[in-house]
Amino acid sequence: MFNSRYEALMDKFVIRGGNRLKGTIQVSGAKNAALPAMAAAILTDDPVVLENIPQVRDIETERKLLAAMGAEVELGYGRAHHRTSICCRNLASPEASYELVKTMRASTLVLGPLVARFGRARVSMPGGCAIGARPIDLHIKGLEKLGATITQEHGYVEARCDRLRGAEILFDKITVTGTEDLMMAATLADGETVLENAAREPEVVDLADLLNRMGAHIEGAGTSTIRIKGVSSLHGARHRIIPDRIEAGTFIIAGALAADELKIQNCEPRHLGALLQKLRECGVELQTEADCVVVRANGKLTAADITTEEYPGFPTDMQAQYMALATQAEGSSFIVENIFENRFMHALELVRMGADVRIEGRRAIVRGRTPLSAAAVQCSDLRASASLVIAAMVADGETILDRVYHVDRGYERIEEKLRSVGAEIRRIGQMFPKRATVPVAH
Ligand code: EPZ
Repeated sequence: MFNSRYEALMDKFVIRGGNRLKGTIQVSGAKNAALPAMAAAILTDDPVVLENIPQVRDIETERKLLAAMGAEVELGYGRAHHRTSICCRNLASPEASYELVKTMRASTLVLGPLVARFGRARVSMPGGCAIGARPIDLHIKGLEKLGATITQEHGYVEARCDRLRGAEILFDKITVTGTEDLMMAATLADGETVLENAAREPEVVDLADLLNRMGAHIEGAGTSTIRIKGVSSLHGARHRIIPDRIEAGTFIIAGALAADELKIQNCEPRHLGALLQKLRECGVELQTEADCVVVRANGKLTAADITTEEYPGFPTDMQAQYMALATQAEGSSFIVENIFENRFMHALELVRMGADVRIEGRRAIVRGRTPLSAAAVQCSDLRASASLVIAAMVADGETILDRVYHVDRGYERIEEKLRSVGAEIRRIGQMFPKRATVPVAH
């Protein structure tokens, strides 16, 4: 479905700035909801059918990860190409290899479900990441609290337990995938588990909805206290993944800088509270309706500070895109990155395009408004790439964006979507070959 890793490494975007955006752009399903949902299928013998799955590289990696363990993972095709059916009845080897985990940290989400369902799991440690150290110590501590015996050797975590037992777990720090991993594990534990200081992200709520459809007893998802009454087994279910609030936010910021009128459709405005409030503070003109946001660029933006926080605060996954907007706002914006220790890789690339950004540890000071000029720039991680795509659309001239495989990890055919509303963007290198048709069992 996707180019080989080597071919993907070759892809670049060529973006000519200055075009006005106009029309309607569709938001895909949320990558960060789809990944834990696919891992949740490990918890039952029955098929789990997920709809509104984004066609992004990380989903492909998760498919390979599950298939390597012996799961049957069928991706829909044609009209059903945003659907997947996963059956773990014949899952034989509860192991997540370094080869796959090193390409996607979220692979560690299989740890809890595997030990809960099979009594053992061997999962590669994820290693370092461009945006920060990102350890998984809180996942491990939580599993130990649930009664698992954990050993770490040769770069792998080995977890063993006949049956997990309910426990009280107070997270030292709010962790999204930590909450999801332990919530999944606790569904099959003996007794009740209480997760305190849990993450409240919409993706956590979506996962709890799926698990409850599979027969779990989860209460409190979306608050910082989640209660899970363990059951002896779970069954199959069909579930529609929520829209991707970060993809929606990315397009809203693009529209705030370059749109005559842009409608961002199939999104969930209530999941975007902190971002929309901040954009209004900057003077962005936007309207929200049930499942869409309409935005217009008025060229009269003023600076506003942000500090990234856990949900419902300002999302760290929108910090880079917001920095691109801040380069076009009058005044100085102070951007504080609270969640990850190294998430300003995009700043120096924006400076190469003429932006005035100064980094002081976890704080960036962006002075605007500074006209941007096209340059050859490089993607370093998923959201940094989105920031550069946005900047290139308002820069003077033609920008060459290298390493766009970072973008493909979390944005479904972003260049086609942006081109459909007037952006001048094309992919060079190996284009996506037409999708191979894969039969799906209904
Ligand atoms: C999730 O990552 C998202 N990924 C990230 O999105 C997002 O940036 C992040 O949450 C924060 O919102 C997925 O959902 C797949 P965390 P996650 O555990 O769960 C520290 C994107 O762009 N920590 O909430 O890995 C950690 O280092 C990606 O789509 C520990 O110290 O993030 C960080 O500083 C990037 N020990 C903080 O907690 C642990 O065991 C929050 O991380 C776990 C986390």
